[in-house]
Order: sequence, then C-alpha cells, then structure tokens
Amino acid sequence: MGIPDLKGRDFLKLLDFSTEEILGLVDLAALLKAKKKNEEPVDVLRGKNVALIFEKTSTRTRCAFEVAAHDLGMGATYLDPSGSQIGKKESIADTARVLSGMFEGIEYRGYGQEIVEELAEYASVPVWNGLTNEFHPTQMLADLLTIREQFGEIRGVRLSYFGDARYNTGNSLMVTGAKTGMHIVLCSDKKYFPDPALVETCREIAAATGGSITLTEDPAEAAKGADVFYTDVWVSMGEPQEIWEERIRDLSPYRVTADLLAMGSSRAVFMHCLPAFHDLKTVVGREIYEKFGLTEMEVTDEVFESSRSVVFKEAENRMHTIKAVMAATLGYNGQ
Ligand code: CP
Ligand code: NVA
Repeated sequence: MGIPDLKGRDFLKLLDFSTEEILGLVDLAALLKAKKKNEEPVDVLRGKNVALIFEKTSTRTRCAFEVAAHDLGMGATYLDPSGSQIGKKESIADTARVLSGMFEGIEYRGYGQEIVEELAEYASVPVWNGLTNEFHPTQMLADLLTIREQFGEIRGVRLSYFGDARYNTGNSLMVTGAKTGMHIVLCSDKKYFPDPALVETCREIAAATGGSITLTEDPAEAAKGADVFYTDVWVSMGEPQEIWEERIRDLSPYRVTADLLAMGSSRAVFMHCLPAFHDLKTVVGREIYEKFGLTEMEVTDEVFESSRSVVFKEAENRMHTIKAVMAATLGYNGQ
C-alpha cells in the first residue's frame, strides 16, 4: 500500500487527483477504518482545528467531518447555513483569509463549484469540498471503499447510475469511474445527461485506465450485467420545489426496482448517497404522495431494504474516507 504525500493539497474534485492518489486515499481510509474497529487511537493531529461551512443542510457529511476530526484529535467548528457572514456581508476571498488564520483546514458545502475553488485560491490551508452543485468528491471515496469491500476490486466493476445524471452525483461517478477504470453507465432521459465537455474529458481519462463511459436512455440496457445499481434524489438541494412534477414525469422510468436489479450481475448491489425517498416516512415524501400519489421515488422500498442494499455501509464509509482526506492533506499518512 502506498499512501501518496498529499500534505497541503486541497480536495475540490477528483479530476485534480491521479488514479494512484485516489486509490491511496481509499487505502488510507481502509487503514483508518481498521484502526477504529480495533479501538486504536489516531489522534495524531492534536491541537489542530477545522472549520466546517455548510450553506446547504447535511446529516452524513457534517457528522463524518465532526467525528473524523474528533478521532484525529482536532477541534471542529460548524458554521450553519444561516450562522455566518459568508457571501452576504463578507466575500469568499475575505472569509478564506480570516479562517486560514484560525484553522488548519476548511470544509465547504454549498452551491457553485467556483465558490469552493475561490475559497481554496485565497485560503492558505487545505480546503475540502463537502458537496457543490457540480461535484461530491468525498462521497466518491466512500463509494470506492464500499465497492472494494464488496467486490475486492474497483477496476473493471460495472456501475450503472439511474436518474438525474447531470448533477453532483452523476458527474462525480463518471469522473471517479474514469479515473479508476470502472465501466460507468449513466441512464436517464437525455435532458439529464451530463455536460458533453465533461463526458468527453472522462472518456479520454477512461481510455487510459481501461474504463468506459456510456450514456443511455434505456434502463434495461443499463441494468444488464451491472454490478452496482446507483441512484440519487430526483430534485437536489437548492433546486426549486416547483420542479418536482417535471422530474417525476421525466425520471419515473428510471426508478431502481427489483425487476431492474434482477437484470444485473449475480453479485449486484444497490448503492445511494442518501438521503433517499423510498417510503412515506419523511415530510417531503408525504407531500409528494399527497400531490402526486407516489409512495416511492428513485428506488423502491423493496430494493432499499433488500439484502442487496449496501447503503448503510456506504454511509459509514463517509466517515472513514473523510478522515483519510483530512489526515492526508494535513500530513498524516498512517505511519
Ligand atoms: N450523502 C450525503 O452527502 O449526505 P448528507 O447530505 O446528509 O451530508
Ligand atoms: N444530488 C444530491 C446529493 C445529496 C448528497 C443533492 O445535491 O441534494
């Protein structure tokens, strides 16, 4: 196992990292996970502090950063969507320089990718992307760790994504698969296909790693032989609520069902970044039911709750992989 030296680097999108660096972070996460399970302390970053800026809500990412920082011996300060001056009374550039004087690292979750890129440009400490409209790179490391735990390999795995393929999760899976030699199929109505320039970039990367990128509107084609069935919400954070009706109409044919899963490989699993709409136990789920009569959306409850579903392992892996990102960029490589 070779953990690359990433000290001082930002973690903004996987396009900025080599295959070796990405897999090295997955290795480091696996090591940190094993240490956690053995109750071996890793509080090697004692005395350091990190700022966690969330301009959108979160359960997994926030908890993962807070627990991981604590495990590494660091303090964490959470800035919620309403509780800071960022962007309203203080520019991103000024915020970056203020926080760099108090913290050793800054996590940012928000809107456009250009915001986190600007934050990183002006910050003198590592900046970590906790989700933007375009990319969700910490989610991708958790997905890679989960896939490797499941299949013992990443290269050659066939991952099919169903649903809104032009947002953070679809874009990021395409980049991740290209970088690591996976076969990625994005399946959706063509209105929701990713930016052609990003598809082209990913195809060029995949040509060198042995991976491939396929776009299709046909769920049966995407399901055939897939090892991973992956989906995400149909309306993402920050999108207008009025868009639900159109999304339901456009994306219902791409719901992950038991019949679809049955077309996959014999080792097929279901993955989802979460949160998921698979029943009526949420406020939004109930509102959609009352308005449109749907009891489940991007995935059926049957698939979500089935033995094929690895979504909660995937969620746990957010913490181990985020710990690896903070540790590596702050100079700890597991030794
Ligand atoms: N998957 C994910 O990022 O979850 P949260 O929005 O709860 O952080
Ligand atoms: N596409 C989703 C991902 C949530 C983790 C969103 O941006 O809301």
